[in-house]
Amino acid sequence: MDLSSITWDPYDEAVLADPFAHHAVLRDAGAVVWLERYGCFAMARYAEVRAALTDWETFVSGRGVGLADFAREEPWRPPSLLLEADPPLHGRTRGVMNKVVALPALRALQPKWVEQAHALVAGLVGTGPFDAVPALAEAFPLSVFPALVGLREEGRENLIPYGTTAFNAFGPRNALLTRSLENAATATAWVMESCRRDNLLPGGWGELVYAAADHGECSEAEAERLVRSLLTAGVDTTVNGIANLVHAFAENPGQWRKLRAQPDLARKAIEESLRWGGVVQTFFRTTSRAVDIAGTTIPEGSKVLLFLAAANRDPRHWSDPDRFDITRSASGHVGFGFGIHQCLGQMVARFEAEAVLAALIAQVGEIRSTAPATRRINNTLFALGTLPVELIAA
Ligand code: HEM
Repeated sequence: MDLSSITWDPYDEAVLADPFAHHAVLRDAGAVVWLERYGCFAMARYAEVRAALTDWETFVSGRGVGLADFAREEPWRPPSLLLEADPPLHGRTRGVMNKVVALPALRALQPKWVEQAHALVAGLVGTGPFDAVPALAEAFPLSVFPALVGLREEGRENLIPYGTTAFNAFGPRNALLTRSLENAATATAWVMESCRRDNLLPGGWGELVYAAADHGECSEAEAERLVRSLLTAGVDTTVNGIANLVHAFAENPGQWRKLRAQPDLARKAIEESLRWGGVVQTFFRTTSRAVDIAGTTIPEGSKVLLFLAAANRDPRHWSDPDRFDITRSASGHVGFGFGIHQCLGQMVARFEAEAVLAALIAQVGEIRSTAPATRRINNTLFALGTLPVELIAA
């Protein structure tokens, strides 16, 4: 079968600012397409993206989940022992971390998180227009997540710039990445220091990771890198998850009214916002062997860009996919990935969103958009720069 070539740049800043407008072209061009600009393959349809995420033996992560092929290029930082690792290493490190992020301990924290979310929202309701990015979407995760891991107080503001850089680094070495690497030197140094055992506060997840090292489940050097994974992946993602959720309701007031009338739809609404919102737009894989996908042979050693966000709105799988509809079943979305690398922190992300949503449902009758939202362009994340809203009391 003929392979369609895409000549435009999916990492052009104008495309990154409005990615959904370009996804239909990618999906319609074929099950597999060729990205001329980068000399790599791409897939944007639900069935193929999900199948590739599931087939970790063919579509490996150990050669990097960004454009850079670690078999040929030096990674910008020592690779993640989770995200950028394959079995058997991945099975061992994931086993360590699954115990650290265990559900019972998280559940026990939930009432406190809900209380904190209520207090945060109470300070914003009826105060006129404000920017929900810093005031809510950043403020809430920063008030719960660093404490969960056991990070020292001073310097926590470095988490977002570091996360931004790491997510930019999955893309090409474009101006976005260069700028972000230049700006994040201090943040990166702070994050690396924060992962060291003697900088972690007692009682947090960080301490648990090092306890696993004491029990011989990983080395101390590995523990340091596993803590880093939490800090890389755990903040900018949830910040934008919450921003997207608030944005979705500000743009769809009917859905907000529906949720307030039926608050037990909250969990469904969160899954739908993950499907519809596209926080993590893309990740790469590298083929470990030649593989045939719908009549196209992808040779061994090829980089393949998986458009998770495009898969989540593929009309071949979802009905009326561009519609934000909190009553639909969004289960099976690939917003957290799929297969062995599926998001380690997905329950943290869900609990944070649930706490914020519970507080909003209880206190806010209307989420009014007061000016168009703006984007913070990133090579991987669909991030909001500003989200001007007004919360009208219930
Ligand atoms: C809305 C928030 C979040 C989104 C949308 C998200 C999305 C994702 C996605 C798509 C993957 C799969 C990557 C791949 O297949 O290559 C992933 C993996 C991962 N996520 Fe999340 N994530 C979120 C929150 C978090 C949080 C809060 C944490 C930490 C507590 C976290 C830690 C990780 C880690 C460590 C991995 C790698 C897992 C592995 O390779 O086994 N994420 N995430």
